[in-house]
Amino acid sequence: MYRPQNLRIPGPTFVPQAVLAASARPLINHRGPEFAALLAALTRALQDFLRTEHDVLLLSASGSGGLEAAVANTLSSGDKALVFSCGAFGERFAAICKAYGVDARRVDVPYGRAVEPDLVRDELAKEKGKDAAKAVLITHNETSTGVLNPMKDIAAVVRDSGKLFLVDSVSGAGCTELEIDEWGIDVCVTASQKAWGAPPGVAMVTMSPRAWKAYEKSNLPKAYFDLATYKASLEKAQTPATPAVTVFIALQESLRLMAEEGLEAIIRRHRDLARATRRGLQAVSLQIFADERYASPAVTAFRPPARVDARNLIRLLRDDHDTIVAGGQGKMEGQLVRVAHLGFVTLQDIVAFFSALELTLRDLNQPVEPGVAMTAALRAYAESQQQTSRPAARSSSTARSANDAVATRR
Ligand SMILES: Cc1ncc(COP(=O)(O)O)c(C=O)c1O
Repeated sequence: MYRPQNLRIPGPTFVPQAVLAASARPLINHRGPEFAALLAALTRALQDFLRTEHDVLLLSASGSGGLEAAVANTLSSGDKALVFSCGAFGERFAAICKAYGVDARRVDVPYGRAVEPDLVRDELAKEKGKDAAKAVLITHNETSTGVLNPMKDIAAVVRDSGKLFLVDSVSGAGCTELEIDEWGIDVCVTASQKAWGAPPGVAMVTMSPRAWKAYEKSNLPKAYFDLATYKASLEKAQTPATPAVTVFIALQESLRLMAEEGLEAIIRRHRDLARATRRGLQAVSLQIFADERYASPAVTAFRPPARVDARNLIRLLRDDHDTIVAGGQGKMEGQLVRVAHLGFVTLQDIVAFFSALELTLRDLNQPVEPGVAMTAALRAYAESQQQTSRPAARSSSTARSANDAVATRR
């Protein structure tokens, strides 16, 4: 049943052997000193990665639970919220608002495009007076379309408006630039199975002092996701209910591996592998779905060749090559293929993906010369390395590329 697979979906991502081994350790008492030390260390490490001095709360839930907590803890029934959406996860954020009785005004941009700061500025200009939106909600990395919204510039616009700022960075945090405190993000959500390379089961939610002020006024129902109970428990180095202990242990190990590589190198690796992926796809005339300027470092969505059903391509990759990619979501179902380069991914994984893709395209009677996509990806990667590597580092016998460091963890 379980075979080694080239798991190229945007979460759960590949979990390194050391992380799997950590998750196989005997369970510990979640009210005991070992768990207290684990939670304290995890919280500190996540504050470093997320660039915040404020609270990082760990919920035993998937990312959607974290999004629900973000809304339920900061808004009140009838509050207006401005939700910028460029795909299925923006729509989900708005749907959560609606489920809680928040009046979400959704501003949609076409799938494949990014939310531009000017659009945010124009829409915020309409939100003045007594009935104005109290909060701005947005997805950082839109996993359904492979678009990375320009968050730094958007955040500057939102900050000027003084509105509460809630960000879904479920698939962005840990693989791209994100400065939670400096950019003024009040609540940010991510999840263990994305860039963090741990199994699913833990959502991380950051809360700024402004978010806590909003909490005081919020009247939405909350029980399991009441973040004040997480904060109070954290002061005793505990969680309010039984946590997903195994995932917490795994996450500590994956954060250790990530700290070894360093956030800057991780961000660069994602950027370079994403670019190599796009160049490989383009070399076999496949159309990238996202606007190149805002292409995601986590996942690349592309259209299948004309007259090829994306579902068929995905099935052949799986059945013939153990290569697992994702399809389109929501209204893009059947129209897109999404290949992820998120988490502990190496150039070798991308090359393996292209070898499977090239053979599959040939099986689908597409005129593809073997090696063309692979070569283009390798070339693009080598170019990026040349641009970033310094001669001193290259001549050092101890210096290894980030890619090599990740590859040896297999
Ligand atoms: C951007 C984004 N938001 C929210 C979610 C939902 O997270 P989960 O599936 O962990 O509930 C995902 C998951 O793919 C995501 O990519």
